[in-house]
This record gives sequence, structure tokens and C-alpha cells, in this order.
Amino acid sequence: MKALVLAGGTGSRLRPITHTAAKQLVPVANKPVLFYGIESIVEAGITDIGVVVGDTAAEIRAALGDGSRFGARVTYLPQERPLGLAHAVSVARDWLGEDDFVMYLGDNFIVGGITAFVEGFRAQRPDAGLLLTKVDDPRAFGVAELGPDGDVVRLEEKPSAPRSDLALVGVYFFTSAVHAAVAALTPSARGELEITDAIQGLIDAGRTIRATTITGYWKDTGNAHDMLEVNRSVLEGLERCVEGEVDDTSKIIGRVRIERGARIERSRIVGPAVIGAGTVVRDSRIGPSTSVAEDCTITGSEVESSIILRGAGIDRAGRIEDSLIGRSVQVTGVAEAPRGHRLVLGDHSRIHIAA
Ligand code: G1P
Repeated sequence: MKALVLAGGTGSRLRPITHTAAKQLVPVANKPVLFYGIESIVEAGITDIGVVVGDTAAEIRAALGDGSRFGARVTYLPQERPLGLAHAVSVARDWLGEDDFVMYLGDNFIVGGITAFVEGFRAQRPDAGLLLTKVDDPRAFGVAELGPDGDVVRLEEKPSAPRSDLALVGVYFFTSAVHAAVAALTPSARGELEITDAIQGLIDAGRTIRATTITGYWKDTGNAHDMLEVNRSVLEGLERCVEGEVDDTSKIIGRVRIERGARIERSRIVGPAVIGAGTVVRDSRIGPSTSVAEDCTITGSEVESSIILRGAGIDRAGRIEDSLIGRSVQVTGVAEAPRGHRLVLGDHSRIHIAA
């Protein structure tokens, strides 16, 4: 069995972060979200991994390399434009051959991995194995309608009037029967070849589809809010590990990881929280539920429930919460209430300011 990991896409809902970085590489607890997926694939015993890449190919390649650090063999499959999940399958057609495969969307996050689902698929070998989960707003997902005996009778991509609250999780299992269904597709209203339509094709052709409703934690980390929630949830499992320097006047409370080369001075770090290598924290209060990446400088500020990316600086900025701060961003407070705000913000930035 092979794995097809989708790591293309434009990440439009995570702009401006994704103007300069691949969405799958945004870190959760200081590790790219994509790595969690790759690790769970390898954990399930699948080591032959095809990674579909787009505009951010160079960055994804630099992060994953040949896959050996994960115990896998990675093959890169360039997709010229993000024309849909089923299009990605067609790009991978030759590489997949006649093998069964799991398709894993690189921005999806499943706590507890996929081993049990891979085993279930291997045992039953339906033509498509789907994972479903109840969501509050099914309009943002592919939605499954189940018949009285629990069979999938219909799938719809982002319906305006959903027939159920069961969303398709971004992990799918297929036999080679999917290729004929993909080949028969035409672009959807949003101009993409939808995997949802390909699976509907399998249903209509009388193929066997198995759906498992999962109750564990799943998130599509496509937007900042979900990203922060995944970060909070992953940090819950953190173990205390202090390898950086902490001065006598600082307090480290609870499950906090301070990476090598980080320095904490006159500050309070409340877990769960992680402080990246080379980061300096002075006269500040960090956490809980906060990940600060490598080489940041935080001075005289409070940061809670946030993700701070590499090289960012936060200086006397008061209290920052529920925020996603990009690489090398500078946030600086001013001593007096300003007459005007001075801003240099990337395209598609979102800020809340006292007005
Ligand atoms: C895709 C699929 C959708 C699925 C979702 C899960 O949506 O098209 O059916 O529910 O992933 O993450 P997209 O993220 O492309 O909007």
C-alpha cells in the first residue's frame, strides 16, 4: 500500500502567512503540521509516500527531503496548478500504478493517527474507505448522506443546504478502481476535479464504499482559528523539558518545553507552552497554549494562546492573545496612546486594534 500526501494548494484562508510559506509547514507545537501526517502514515506501516506539490514545492522538498528522516521513501509529484483533489490523483496515476493507497491532505490533523483505519481498510478492502466526523458547519466540507443501514448514499462538496452534519475527513482509502472514476470527471462549479464527485461515481457504479465515523479529534488547519485550536490540543500532550537557560528570577510552571539555546530572563512561562531554540524572552509572561518558534525575541509583553513563527519580535506590546504571528514580524508597543497607528501589514492580514 502507498500513501499520497497532498501538499500543494494556495492556502488562501491562511493568508498572509501563506504568501511566503506553505500552509502545510505552519508549525504546531514547533513542528510543521505536515510532519504529524507523515509520521502517522509511517506509523501505520506505509513507507512509500508520494507527495503532490505545487508552487511551494521547493519549501516542501527542503522540509521532507528524501523522507529518510521519517523512515520513508518520498517521491515528489508536481501538480502544475491546484485543480482539485481528484486532479492530484490523476497527476499521481502512473506512480500509484495498481496499488491501494491512502490519500492524506497535508493540512489535516488527526489525533491518535491512522493505524486503526489502515488496518480496517486492509482487512475489508472496499473500493473506497472514508472517514466521517460530525461538524458544526458542514457547508465548509464534503458532506456524506447515509442510508438507513449506514451505507453512504450520496456525497456533496460544500453544499449550501447540507443533508447531514457528517463531514468528509481529509484522509481517504482507495483501490485502483478510483482511477476510472477520476478519469470520468468534469470540473465542478468551483472549477476543480472533486474527489467527492469521484467517490460519488464509485457509489453510482455500485462499488463498495465503507465509511467510519470518527469521534476523536480532527481538524482541517486551513484557517488561523483552527490552527490555534490544533496547537492548543497538541500542547495538551506536551512533556516538561527545560534545555534552555532560565535565570533565577523566572518561573516555569507546568508542562513547558524550553529548547536548547533559548533564554528566559525575569519572566513567567505557564504551560502548556513551547519556547523554540535561540529564542529570548525577557520581562514577559508566556502561555498557556502558546508555541514560540526559533530565534524570536519577546520583551515586556504577554502572549497567550498563540503561535509565533520563526524570527518574530514582540516588544512592549501589552497582551497578545489568540494570534498567529508570521515569520520575522515585528510587533512594537508605544509608550503613549498614538494619534495614529503605523502599520506595515502583508496582503490579507487581519488585525484588531483599539479604535
Ligand atoms: C477538502 C475536500 C472536502 C473535505 C476537506 C477536509 O476541502 O474537498 O470534501 O471535507 O478537504 O479537510 P478543501 O480543504 O479543499 O476545501
